[in-house]
Amino acid sequence: MAQGFGFTLHATDGKARTGVIHTTRGEIRTPAFMPVGTAATVKAMLPDSVRATGADILLGNTYHLMLRPTAERIARLGGLHRFMNWDRPILTDSGGFQVMSLASLRKLTEEGVRFSSHIDGSKHMLTPERSMEIQRLLGSDIVMCFDECPALPATEAEVAKSMQLSMRWAQRSRDAFGDRLGHALFGIMQGGVTRDLREESARALTGIGFDGYAVGGLAVGEGQEAMFDVLDYAPGFLPADKPRYLMGVGKPDDIVGAVERGIDMMDCVLPSRSGRTGQAWTRAGQINIKNARHQDDPRPLDEECTCPACRNYSRAYLHHVNKAGEIIASMLMTWHNLHYYQDLMQGLRDAIAAGRLSAFVADFHARRAEGDI
Ligand code: GUN
Ligand code: ZN
Repeated sequence: MAQGFGFTLHATDGKARTGVIHTTRGEIRTPAFMPVGTAATVKAMLPDSVRATGADILLGNTYHLMLRPTAERIARLGGLHRFMNWDRPILTDSGGFQVMSLASLRKLTEEGVRFSSHIDGSKHMLTPERSMEIQRLLGSDIVMCFDECPALPATEAEVAKSMQLSMRWAQRSRDAFGDRLGHALFGIMQGGVTRDLREESARALTGIGFDGYAVGGLAVGEGQEAMFDVLDYAPGFLPADKPRYLMGVGKPDDIVGAVERGIDMMDCVLPSRSGRTGQAWTRAGQINIKNARHQDDPRPLDEECTCPACRNYSRAYLHHVNKAGEIIASMLMTWHNLHYYQDLMQGLRDAIAAGRLSAFVADFHARRAEGDI
């Protein structure tokens, strides 16, 4: 396993855990939410501002960066951290998932995936070996195995076949990655919503051995109830002394439910993407700032939030700049959402450490139910 990488558990409350992931680029407090910086930027935010929201780690994407500006160019310019001016940890996804949702003319074989770029139609190939090479060129601190996430709807037989391919790719990813001082490799569990397949996948991954384990193949349209059903057992198949990362999740209530079920890390485009379309997440629930009822409202988005959008601006102002298509609308809304998500994570960490997670969760749901927005 990687030297210069470790996970210390500080406290548990039920299945929930809080602790710290140690990396050579700094500590990651868990449960952690990772803002998404797909194209070497968290859109509408400066890196210092992302840090100011409380983020310890960002997520980057192999798929986007290999196409533009290319991993080789980023490596020549000193790596992704220097390129984007973020010196803290970066986790990179491996590309397979994004190929399936974004690229065209995909051809999946045992070897890997051949596809055409969604940007210019150029042809590319991703394999476990090439994904490991790209993530090494980027200088990623936490590298993800190359996997396949089957598109829904899929039969159980299709999900099983796909999971077994991902497990062979996990072994190839492990072999190609080797042992790199200060860089960690995470396996990705697949298996859809079938308990036996999840268990088989976990056994394959733990047999190979990784620095951390992701739960993949969720939040792909199965719904929250089905996702929580899987999360009721899947994290328990993974080693307790390694970080568990739920990929691509989620809305605030998804995050709370995942943390209750033993998840340590998450990422999602939601706070940044929805910020750019006028959606704000607050302690009282979701706000669409485009709604005309905000046009005379002097209140901040969230009275308890200490972000610049809430400290310095009214809902009326945010409504105005959004309607006027001003760039500051995206900046302020994204900042608020990321700040809200990080406050939520801090609240979860504190509650777990104090052994009062159920009270925290009850209050979280009660305030949203009151819906005083
Ligand atoms: N992002 C969200 N889900 C997945 C998944 O199953 N695999 C990968 N690689 N990335 C994801
Ligand atoms: Zn705010």
